[in-house]
Amino acid sequence: MSQPRRLFVTTALPYANGHFHIGHIMEYIQADIWVRFQRMQGHEVNFVCADDAHGAPIMIAADKAGKTPQQFVADIAAGRKPYLDGFHIGFDNWHSTDGPENHVLAQQIYKDLKANGLIETRTIEQFFDPEKNMFLPDRFIKGECPNCHAKDQYGDNCEVCSKVYSPTDLINPYSALSGAKPVLKQSEHFFFKLSDPRCLAFLDQWTQSGAVQPEVLNKISEWIEPDEHGKTKMGDWDISRDAPYFGIEIPDAPGKYFYVWLDAPVGYLASLKNLFDRTGRDFDAFMADPTTEQVHFIGKDIITFHTLFWPAMLKFSGRKVPNAVFVHGFLTVNNGEKMSKSRGTGLDPLKYLQLGMNPEWLRYYLAAKLSARNEDIDFNPEDFLLRVNSDLIGKYINIASRAAGFIAKRFDGQLGEVSADGDALLDHLQSAAPSITELYAEREYGKALREIMLLADRVNAYVDQNKPWELAKKEGMDGRLHDVCTTCIEAFRLLTLYLKPVLPALAVQVEAFLQSGPLQFTDTARLLGKGHAINPYQHLMQRVDVKQLDALFEPPPAPVEAAPVPGGEPIADTITIDDFAKIDLRIAQIVNCEAVEGSTKLLRLTLDVGEGKTRNVFSGIASAYKPEDLVGKLTVVVANLAPRKMKFGVSEGMVLAASHADEKAQRGIHILNPWPGATPGMRVR
Ligand code: MSP
Ligand code: ZN
Repeated sequence: MSQPRRLFVTTALPYANGHFHIGHIMEYIQADIWVRFQRMQGHEVNFVCADDAHGAPIMIAADKAGKTPQQFVADIAAGRKPYLDGFHIGFDNWHSTDGPENHVLAQQIYKDLKANGLIETRTIEQFFDPEKNMFLPDRFIKGECPNCHAKDQYGDNCEVCSKVYSPTDLINPYSALSGAKPVLKQSEHFFFKLSDPRCLAFLDQWTQSGAVQPEVLNKISEWIEPDEHGKTKMGDWDISRDAPYFGIEIPDAPGKYFYVWLDAPVGYLASLKNLFDRTGRDFDAFMADPTTEQVHFIGKDIITFHTLFWPAMLKFSGRKVPNAVFVHGFLTVNNGEKMSKSRGTGLDPLKYLQLGMNPEWLRYYLAAKLSARNEDIDFNPEDFLLRVNSDLIGKYINIASRAAGFIAKRFDGQLGEVSADGDALLDHLQSAAPSITELYAEREYGKALREIMLLADRVNAYVDQNKPWELAKKEGMDGRLHDVCTTCIEAFRLLTLYLKPVLPALAVQVEAFLQSGPLQFTDTARLLGKGHAINPYQHLMQRVDVKQLDALFEPPPAPVEAAPVPGGEPIADTITIDDFAKIDLRIAQIVNCEAVEGSTKLLRLTLDVGEGKTRNVFSGIASAYKPEDLVGKLTVVVANLAPRKMKFGVSEGMVLAASHADEKAQRGIHILNPWPGATPGMRVR
């Protein structure tokens, strides 16, 4: 073999705001098949992914969930493994764009672009939420469509009439976060000058270097190719966002963060670096090596980021540019209803696994539908059942089950001589290796599987001609029976080798059964040979049961209809602002705090409410706080509550604390704590 290739392969980094849906799994299966195929040819592959952690939507979702963004994305990350292991997706590393490597790399790439004169600042005007004190991303501004006047449309386009516009075009815009009317506010933004002639020249060359599929090139060339006036459509790219933002800080620009799409693809490098650092390999040397090939698998919705912005970022920060971006179409389920990116479809990958459905059925089925083209594919349950049961099981698995029993029972588990017709059949199977290899390399999995199934058809025709079950009953036909069954087992080994990128777990079972050692694409010319011993056949794969498919698509039980009760108790009756004004809430400093002898519930607080004297207040928070932890802290007190005489003394007010109606079940009591800057005596209103 020629020099082994050194590959760096990624799939798109999924947003860390939800669990995987079947579209993600499809992308991973497509890439995983390619990676396994390359490894079976003896090439080195480093296959990584990561969570795409940053951005306003994740920050806002975390806030809603009452978590820090870090905690929020960590919780999503913790749920990834069952999917990846379950579908045999063999990433070498799973990292996060919020990891330290990504902070360093993104900032370094930015500095390099800046040193290259490709970063510019401009003041722009944007909608700002005066209540939330933040600039609003387009998706968080809603209003009436300026075109069809549909209400409650997003700031970037109308879901009713599909018109694309900018948020400032909306009629009566409002913030989807607070409901407030947004105001226009100026802010300085950072831009990556993609319209620079150097970028355009580079992209013109790179996009035509064979790095993208022809249909993808068609789509993107409109951005690069000059029109009749010599102008291109490519604008500069706004790469900054203002605080508050969950992201990576821009060096020397306080309060400015990289837009999530700037640091997201850098996460590819960060995940690889994290892997190399952990395994003692030299990341910089690997990336500087001109023979390293960098390959990204992505879906059709993120083409411009990967074929224009990302290659330019790499090029002009002096780094290796991608060798290939492989774009796939979208997976739909049950014909067509386009899958929502966040909700997915009726096919829940985890439910699939929990129902005990074989992950390799799905790998096989999706592979049979996939091509190298950017085109959508559909998951159809009837088609799935048919392809798995009649092709995978009926044509391929059955070859082994029909031959292996005789080898074990009649020939002591040993393979025999293959005669001329068997030889011809095996020759035919072996001679298909170059074309199957080519098809896998080109990501034409559907064609590869069709070719492999045609080979299986030939083997089955041979079995039907020779009828080993009849030979077994005839006197003096032992030699022929041994010959035919040996041919079948050798053929089964070759078919398994060809299918191994798609069916890795099954291949491991077959390798054990045949005692063949790991099947490699470099081994297609070899046979097991006369005298080779195999193990008794054990059942390799079940058929799909239609009941499983019914269960898979059965809608989840409807949620019990009951109004949600926040915090375990219904909201109290409405009051007027005047009612509220009767309650005098004040900031108080806890100047002293001690346990109350004879009570396990109460703490005695000495409070400064800015009156020039202190107050004594009892509070039922002993289960949640140690006295010494509270001393010096600020809190909120009801200052005009009538003094109450208690067993241990008089309480002159009440400290505010949050709790669930069922305190014990719901983890405790949480006293209120004002934001920094409040001082004792300030009124809370
Ligand atoms: N976070 C970005 C990618 C950043 S890459 C530096 C993102 N995330 S995503 O979770 O929305 O999508 C991740 C991948 O899943 C993308 O390649 C996307 O095209 C793919 N798919 C999302 N829905 C899909 C289908 N229905 N079918 C196939 N792939 C789909 O975009
Ligand atoms: Zn409209």
